Amino acid sequence: MAKPISIAIDGPAGAGKSTIARRLAKELGFYYVDTGAIYRTVAYFFDLWGVRPKTMDDAVVRNTLAPEKDIDGITRYIDELTIGIEYDDEGVQHMIMNGMDVTGDIRTPDLSQKASLVSAHAIVRDLLLDMQREMAEKHNVIMDGRDIGTVVLPKATVKIFLTATPEVRAKRRTDELIAKGQKADYNKILKDIQQRDYQDTHREIAPLKMARVSVKLDTSELDIDGVIAAMKEIIARKVTL
Ligand code: DC
Repeated sequence: MAKPISIAIDGPAGAGKSTIARRLAKELGFYYVDTGAIYRTVAYFFDLWGVRPKTMDDAVVRNTLAPEKDIDGITRYIDELTIGIEYDDEGVQHMIMNGMDVTGDIRTPDLSQKASLVSAHAIVRDLLLDMQREMAEKHNVIMDGRDIGTVVLPKATVKIFLTATPEVRAKRRTDELIAKGQKADYNKILKDIQQRDYQDTHREIAPLKMARVSVKLDTSELDIDGVIAAMKEIIARKVTL
């Protein structure tokens, strides 16, 4: 059997990675692996155990992401955690934490922050590495995250770095929430995005950065169809679609 194709998409929070990757995966008949959901599941687990990563303000002020107090709790409980990924008939990824489907619980702003902090720990990243790589060994995948092209799949068939200005990303998030009938405060969302950018790019292990051979796509001026068209063009340079 031919080696599966892997398309790695990295980029900051709110760049549109998951919307784009989900649509492309459907069109191409690939599995979509949302690795942010995996880190969110880990954060949810530790949150249930009362292991609270220090606040983002601390992280920014102290410029460190690995306080001893977090690592104590993480080390103590990590063996209790089992994580599974399942796909339903529609191709939607479900996160299973210790046998429980937590897919609907992990999309909160609070868990976005906690996932960003908990993901800075080597012990957490090591636990998840094989699981992500196995998916790409078995299936054609579009995998998105922060370190896919740099660490998880350094030999990915195609690597794309998707980005947009923090202001555009915050505006998109705000509009998305309002469209769902939820409350949204643009300034708060912008601050949250900037803090996550800081945390995700400044951690010691597998920080968010562009892989050497990756193609950068700035989506600030593009709508979804425009991004999809640009992505297909980038992919088609390497893969016959
Ligand atoms: O993609 P997301 O916003 O759902 O990710 C939540 C957090 O998880 C993100 O701020 C950093 C972390 N993460 C990571 O460290 N590595 C990945 N490959 C994916 C996410």
